[in-house]
Formats: sequence, C-alpha cells, structure tokens
Amino acid sequence: MRVLVLTGAGVSAESGIPTFRGKDGYWRNLDPMKLATPEAFASDPELVWEWYRERRQRIRSAKPNAAHEAIVRLSTFAREFLLVTQNVDDLHARAGLPKEKMVQIHGNIFVTRCSRCDLEAEEAEEEDVEHDYEHPPSLGYGMAGEHEHDKIPKCPECGALMRPGVVWFGEQLDSNKIDIVEMFVGGGRCDCVFVIGTTALFGYIVDWAIRARGQSGELIEINPDETPLSQFATQVVREPAAAALPRIVDEIIRCRSSSLDADNKGGESRQ
Ligand code: OAD
Repeated sequence: MRVLVLTGAGVSAESGIPTFRGKDGYWRNLDPMKLATPEAFASDPELVWEWYRERRQRIRSAKPNAAHEAIVRLSTFAREFLLVTQNVDDLHARAGLPKEKMVQIHGNIFVTRCSRCDLEAEEAEEEDVEHDYEHPPSLGYGMAGEHEHDKIPKCPECGALMRPGVVWFGEQLDSNKIDIVEMFVGGGRCDCVFVIGTTALFGYIVDWAIRARGQSGELIEINPDETPLSQFATQVVREPAAAALPRIVDEIIRCRSSSLDADNKGGESRQ
C-alpha cells in the first residue's frame, strides 16, 4: 500500500496547540505580518522571539494525540509512506514517526538558524520561563526597546542574530524538502492520500494531494470544515482528527490485512 499524508494545524488542535485561522487561531488575535515575516524580525526581533519562545513552551507541554499515533500505525503498515506536515511542532516525531518518513515543509520551531549564514542548530530545552499565556505578545504589550537584544541568540560563526528555523511569509520553501516530496509524489500513484486539519490555502498542498491520488486513488479529507480540497476528496470526514483517524486507520489495516491473507491463502491453495 502506498500512502501520502498531508497535515496542518488541525491535527495538533486536540493537543492544545492553537490553529492559525480557527476560532482562537493565532492569526485571529495576532498580525502574521508583525510576527512571521523577515521584515518583522528585522524591525523587532525581540517581539518575534518572545512569540516563538511561548509557542515552543506551549508545544513542549503538549502531548501527541490519537491522530498523531494513528498516523504512526499507518506508516508502519504501508509499504511506502510519506507524511508532509505544515506544522512546525514536534508532535508527529514525538508520537514515534521516524524522521525519514516525514517532511516538515514549513520548518521546525525547535531549530534555530542564523539570519545571515547557513548555520543551523536544534534547540536544547530552554530554561522554562514563566509565560503569561493570557497576555500573548500583542503589539503595544511590551513594546520594542523595553527588551535587551542580549536575549536573542547570536550566531557563533558570524555573530548575526539567530532566528527560529521556520518558513515565514514571503520566504521560499527549502528546495531539498520539495525534492523529497516531488520524488514521492512522482514515484507512482498512491492507494490512499489523507489530508488532515488544514485549510489547504497553499497551492502546493492541493497540488501534491491531487497528483498523489492520481485517477483512481482514495483522497480522504478529515476536517470539521470545508476546504478547497473537499471537492477532490473521495471521502470527506467532518470530524475532529483524533476522533476519526484511529477508527479509519484501523479499518484500513483490518481490511487490507484480511485481503492480503486471502491472497496468500489463495496463492498456497493454487500451489
Ligand atoms: P489553519 O489554521 O489555516 O487551518 C486549520 C484547519 O484545521 C481548519 O480547516 C480547521 O477547520 C481544521 N481543524 C481544526 N480543528 C481540527 C481537528 N480537531 N481535527 C481536524 N481538523 C481540524 O492551519 P494550516 O492549514 O495548517 O504557515 O495553515 C497552513 C499554514 O498557514 C501554516 O503552516 C502557517 C500558517 O500561516 C506559515 O506560517 C508559513
């Protein structure tokens, strides 16, 4: 069985990580142009770091949910498998999904990289700074200037400011990561494509899903809401991922296992 899984913020919602455009989504209260662009970092790196440090803290105190775990089960059952996630959290990895079976297309929040040279480092657990979640860093709260630059890590190679290892608006995706996805999508039709918890606003997500499904594959969308991909889905599941995905994955594994057994028995009896 050949499987591609595409996930977005909705798969981590039941682990307590806010989505971006959902009811209490980040982009409802905060301006992405002030927090997730190279320009924002250039004008107020403290404010940007304060937001990413809070997100890191929130992710560290979160746990993978049943949807993350079901994806791991699917990855071990499938003959060929790839997860492409837009999420910068580490919940897929902490659920046990091996790095070689996934691509974090928007980067990893626990990676820190130099804003000038190519130096990159996986961030060790920072000292837990008591964060006031009630008052996230909204503009005007803790204005720039009140913060010292020395809270920002500097590049040991070139001395420039280090930044979170994520893709910001207006930035290119990592071409090596695109190549991995293109290799998989171009490597043959998938029996099953799952699209879970994303508004599918980025064209490359829609494109990979449709191409991987091909003419006859399954495309299963799991999302309480309609998305631009719904019309291309062979099955639409309007339920939270942690509720629906374990059931669907176990059903697929059960059916496929019994048909494999039947094939084997059929093979033996013919001998
Ligand atoms: P969004 O916040 O845009 O979409 C989250 C989707 O998850 C919505 O369609 C919700 O209906 C759905 N959802 C919410 N709870 C769910 C649940 N329990 N189970 C299943 N689905 C659920 O997040 P993304 O689509 O991931 O990029 O956003 C894509 C990118 O835009 C992000 O990676 C980030 C953001 O700006 C960058 O910052 C570059």
